[in-house]
Amino acid sequence: MAKPKSRYVCQACGSVASRWQGQCADCSEWNTLVQEGAAVSSIFAAKHNLQGGGRSIALVGLDSPAALPERIASGIAEFDRAIGGGIVRGSAMLVGGDPGIGKSTLLLQVGAHLAAAGHTVVYVSGEESAEQVRLRAVRLGLGQAPVRLAAATSVRDILTTMGANEQGAEPPALLVIDSIQTMHSDLIEGAPGTVSQVRASAQELVRFAKERGTAVVLVGHVTKDGSIAGPRVLEHMVDTVLSFEGERSHQYRILRAMKNRFGGTDEIGVFAMEGAGLSEVPNPSALFLTQRGEPVSGTSVFPALEGSRPVLVEIQALVVRLASGATPRRAAVGWDSGRLAMVLAVLEARCGLSFATAEVYLNVAGGYRLTDPGADLAVAAALVSALSERPVPGDCVVLGEIALSGEVRPVAHAGLRLKESAKLGFESAWVPAGVKCVDGIKLAEFANLRALVEQIVGR
Ligand code: TYD
Ligand code: MG
Repeated sequence: MAKPKSRYVCQACGSVASRWQGQCADCSEWNTLVQEGAAVSSIFAAKHNLQGGGRSIALVGLDSPAALPERIASGIAEFDRAIGGGIVRGSAMLVGGDPGIGKSTLLLQVGAHLAAAGHTVVYVSGEESAEQVRLRAVRLGLGQAPVRLAAATSVRDILTTMGANEQGAEPPALLVIDSIQTMHSDLIEGAPGTVSQVRASAQELVRFAKERGTAVVLVGHVTKDGSIAGPRVLEHMVDTVLSFEGERSHQYRILRAMKNRFGGTDEIGVFAMEGAGLSEVPNPSALFLTQRGEPVSGTSVFPALEGSRPVLVEIQALVVRLASGATPRRAAVGWDSGRLAMVLAVLEARCGLSFATAEVYLNVAGGYRLTDPGADLAVAAALVSALSERPVPGDCVVLGEIALSGEVRPVAHAGLRLKESAKLGFESAWVPAGVKCVDGIKLAEFANLRALVEQIVGR
């Protein structure tokens, strides 16, 4: 018999190589290949072998009656909002985020709410002892909630406890696994935390969820350097992927659905981390605005949209002229650096401004992360204002997408954004051409970026 070959699995993306390489050929990460046991796979044999007999599957039409998935509202409105209206029975959910961001706190609170409402909730921690989790719950004022706790890392033990193989056993409504990187399955070899272990453990837990109707929540740490198997490899196995974001040094946390088989991915849940755990922020529109006094150069306000809710954010830019010929730095926090380079290039090519000898820093205040291209014009306004040292008026919001031609493009839901801005006391707005008037806000239309530069520099 042929000697089983060993294989090398990238711990960042899960791709398999037959020999060790310093760099993964698929995701280009360095030093991520780890030797793992051989795979027993002959799936890719040349021909379909149907001799063994297969069963025909019944195919149904799209129009056949289907029941909506049964949801359990957690009672934490911001959490329910982010996942599309409550936890779906029998679904698998992955909650990812940096270590220390508050994943355990959030899920303990969600679990306690559900348990208090009469559902069975099991919280398995592979990182902390049951005592530690209990102490935390007491600190959060949740000591009385009937959550069942355990400290365990063996998937087999956990599933046995849940009665996965017993017929009459009553499975819990919610099972929280904190975290999937600490779990190990004895079906395959390898240390906990390796890609194959994480994947195998998750596979068993997800299967349990589907079979028994328990909603399973897997917590996954995301590490920037990819040295621990990230939950990336799990994203396609679960129904819902949530990311819990925020800056550790800031109070605010955002729960965002990256993928949701049972709902949209455009709503977010906003929380504030306080002494007694996470509290909900039902009206986040003014959350990320810093205290605004006299207008300073280099800042502008953009009315972002999160699902159906507007969130006003302050964009800050700093332009520092360099004396020497060193390559200037460009850094962006909370905004795509490729997009920053594009806005700078359009400002140079179409408006005659020069950033070539200047360092450029861009920051979205409050630890907020912007992905909306509608913020282009606000970014450009902050940059031009920083370069020219002339402030954008303090009562003004800016929105518009910038095309490579320098043209300013319309933005979706401009009316909704402007209404919220008016509510928060903004009195004017710089907008693309063709935006409908909104009560209480004076509009200045800009057809192209050059007009914006003239508006700021010429004032
Ligand atoms: P935690 O839920 O343990 O994070 P994760 O599971 O994502 O690693 O929360 C970590 C941080 O939250 C911790 O550093 C302190 C802070 N925190 C508070 O500010 N208030 C609280 O009530 C709790 C429980 C934690
Ligand atoms: Mg934790």
